Amino acid sequence: MSVLIKNGLVVTSASSYTADVYVENGKIKAIGTDLAYAAKTIVDATGKYVLPGAIDPHTHLAMPFMGTHAQDDYETGTIAAACGGVTCVVDFDLQQKGESIRQAIERKQSWAIGKVAVDYSLHPAIMDPRPEVIDEIRDAILEYGTPSFKIFMVYDFRVDDATMIKLLEETKKYGGLVQVHAENVHMIDHLNRKFEKAGTLTPYYHAKSRPNIAEEEAVSRAAKMVELTGSRIYIVHLSSKEGLARVKEARDKGVKVFAETCPQYLLLDEERYKEEGFNGAKYVMSPPLRTRESNQALWEGINRGDIQILATDHCPFDIKGKKDMNGTDDYRKIPNGAPGIETLLMLMHSEGVVKGKITLEKMVDVLSTATAKMFGLADKGEIIVGKDADIVIFDPTQKFTITQKKLHMNVDYTPYEGMEVIGMPVEVYSRGKKVAQWQEDHMEFVGEKGHGRFVKRVPLTHF
Ligand code: URP
Ligand code: ZN
Ligand code: ZN
Repeated sequence: MSVLIKNGLVVTSASSYTADVYVENGKIKAIGTDLAYAAKTIVDATGKYVLPGAIDPHTHLAMPFMGTHAQDDYETGTIAAACGGVTCVVDFDLQQKGESIRQAIERKQSWAIGKVAVDYSLHPAIMDPRPEVIDEIRDAILEYGTPSFKIFMVYDFRVDDATMIKLLEETKKYGGLVQVHAENVHMIDHLNRKFEKAGTLTPYYHAKSRPNIAEEEAVSRAAKMVELTGSRIYIVHLSSKEGLARVKEARDKGVKVFAETCPQYLLLDEERYKEEGFNGAKYVMSPPLRTRESNQALWEGINRGDIQILATDHCPFDIKGKKDMNGTDDYRKIPNGAPGIETLLMLMHSEGVVKGKITLEKMVDVLSTATAKMFGLADKGEIIVGKDADIVIFDPTQKFTITQKKLHMNVDYTPYEGMEVIGMPVEVYSRGKKVAQWQEDHMEFVGEKGHGRFVKRVPLTHF
């Protein structure tokens, strides 16, 4: 299998230049001008960008949660990923009570076999931190290929600060990374009780029950644990100006706090919760949408380098049948999460690059290159010789009106319905095999389910 991509603008995290890219047996074999390989497929990429496939390091495929499960499984979720130009996902794998890390990984891998359409890896989420599980961290990093571990400071399955400290110590020894959902559970519980008493339980109060200060406090506490242990931490789905200020404060002191944000925290704000009827439930996610001030601060955080990664937190639930499955009169009963895997790249290009908020190179960095480095995806994330040929041919002039009808995510809405974007992926390759293609007015999946492979990640040495 060989592909010669001619005359496209190759974009790296550092620069962009016109070149040909030759792909053979799933790998990038050569980059240069006027390459003369006799390839099976020749792609004319004149006027198009040649981007490394986006990597989404925050998905919840088929995850059991709040009495139901996230609706995209490994098949539908990764088909949607491919159509959006995402060629690798690192999915959360929530350890069940009594399970070892190994068992949790094997359980989730069994859900992916024969279904997954692009490459994937797993972040084990530590939810039952028995001593033998803490001891298994070493094997997970050095043998299983899963060097990053999620913990929650909220929800019933949260871990306490003592466990966080143990995990920080253990991951530091072997090249691992703790990822944290940072919100203060007691502040949220207090506000939930207050709103229950007042009878203010519409979706808007979901946002009010999880204020910026709840994120700020948890980020600050997590950062202090890092300062104490000399380890490092990665804040998932950072949403607020105040949370970001604590990340920056730590980083300015040399404390190794890394952060990710998501398109919803850059582009949407809490006014969405006021949409008519129960529509505000579409945006019930944790942390919640914030204000425009936070949106702006997060863009600045990306440009300063305090936020290194963009991810989606893809966790979809239908508005009809799932978000409302426990009734429509109490925000606390609405499954938390929203879809986003397919719209990640188009939104970051159109709202970020086209509107001058980030450069094209920065986009490639936060969607691919920095992500691969952060999480030990040694063969991914860059258009350079030797890497996997996970490539997006991107037409910066192609317009698209986002509508759920033309997307592939297994959910009945998109938070971006009706938004017009400029620039779309038009061909997507996973290890040199075409998996998605622009057809008339939308992207179509042209790959094979089961093509995706589990990627064993390497220990993390970049800290
Ligand atoms: O609301 C969200 N974010 N749902 C998914 C689980 C999580 O906390 O990331
Ligand atoms: Zn979370
Ligand atoms: Zn999440």
